[in-house]
Parts: sequence; structure tokens; C-alpha cells
Amino acid sequence: MNVLIIYCHPSKKSFTHQVFNQLLTGLKTVNHKILVSDLYEMDFQSDMSEEEYVREGLGKVGNAVPTDVFTEQEKIQQSDCIIFVYPVWWSDCPAKLKGWFDRVYSVGYAYGCDDKGIKQLAMKKQKLGMVLCTAGHPNEFLDETGVAESMRNVMIDDRLGTRFENKHMVILGGTLYMDQVKEKHLVKAFEIGKNIASYCNRHHA
Ligand SMILES: Cc1cc2nc3c(=O)[nH]c(=O)nc-3n(C[C@H](O)[C@H](O)[C@H](O)COP(=O)(O)O)c2cc1C
Repeated sequence: MNVLIIYCHPSKKSFTHQVFNQLLTGLKTVNHKILVSDLYEMDFQSDMSEEEYVREGLGKVGNAVPTDVFTEQEKIQQSDCIIFVYPVWWSDCPAKLKGWFDRVYSVGYAYGCDDKGIKQLAMKKQKLGMVLCTAGHPNEFLDETGVAESMRNVMIDDRLGTRFENKHMVILGGTLYMDQVKEKHLVKAFEIGKNIASYCNRHHA
């Protein structure tokens, strides 16, 4: 498969970076074509400019999108699968990744309708969307408090939405208790990479 990884963490010393590396190592055991957008490394601009807002807000699909947005859209066009890797910050993805959605999911590309209410979207439908996030709280706590469900609603149901045929979210929780979870999470990240194609046939989770 052609796999695009959208990776978002500011530090190479982080646990999330180790997860990212294990994922990559797993992916490389199979002959996938891999593209990476390392949002901090790229210094990806997360704020929407006024010009972009005018395009989005008024649905001016004839206006060009900025070059950095176009580059990301080109990567999506070359992909069958997108894997999002990030730490949970305040019960969501980091702002930089939120900004990636704000800007790269432009009107006419990832959403929007014509005069007749028909969706004519340019974004290539992806076979698989995988969300792999690390979280300080244990999964049980995130489940009990409803935070895991709300993260799934937003990332899986809304942001990935109908743009992906198959969608999965794996929360690597409990990093506050790193000694207890580190090994199993790194093994899990490797296995997700190694077996990524099989997630196209698994039930939504
Ligand atoms: C700004 C910030 C906000 C955070 N918010 C949450 C949160 O809302 N829920 C949670 O479970 N963990 C939260 N954490 C913990 C991170 O998810 C945790 O640090 C990460 O999963 C693993 O650490 P890493 O930064 O070494 O990759 C937060 C951490 C930071 C720095």
C-alpha cells in the first residue's frame, strides 16, 4: 500500500517518537511505499490566514490553496492509507495537527457541496485511516470518563468520516505509568505497522 504518516510531536526524545519509529520499522518489513509528514520538523503552519478563511468561509473553490496545503493534498492523492501519530493533549490532538485538518481539508477538496447539494470532492478516498495516539491516562480512565468516546467521535467519525473506507483508532494509554506500558505499546506500534494491510478487513474499532 501507499502509506502516508502524519506525525505530530515536537520532541525526538519523546515516547511518541519511539512509537513512530516502531511503526515505521514494522511498516518497512513489508514492501509499502511510505511518505511522512513530520509536522514539527516541517514547521507546518497551523494557523489559517485571512485569505484562506475567505476561501473556506465563502466557499470560493476557484481560489488557489497555499503551496504547503497543496503539497499535503498531493501526498494524500498518492496514498491509500493515512496513519496519524500524535500524543493526546487536552483530550485531542496537538494544535498543529488540528491546524493540518483546518487547512489541508480545504473546501472542494475534503468537504463542500455544489449548488445542487452534490458533493464533488477531489480528495482521493483512502482505503484505511489509522489513528495511533499516546495518552497519559490509562485507557480504562479515558473510557470511564467518556474522553475516549469523544476522541473517537471527533477523529474517526468526523475528521476521517466518509473519506476513509476503514477506520481504526488505537489509544496507547497509561504513559503516566511508563514502566508498565512502554514495552507493550512499542510492540503494538510495530505490529500495527507490520500488519497495516490487515486493518482494511477488520471491524471498526
Ligand atoms: C500539553 C499536554 C497535555 C496533555 N493532555 C493530556 C490529556 O488530556 N489526556 C491524557 O491522557 N494525557 C495528556 N497528556 C499526556 C500525554 O498524552 C503524554 O505525555 C504522551 O502520551 C506521551 O508522552 P511523550 O510526550 O513523551 O510522547 C498531556 C501532555 C501534555 C504535554
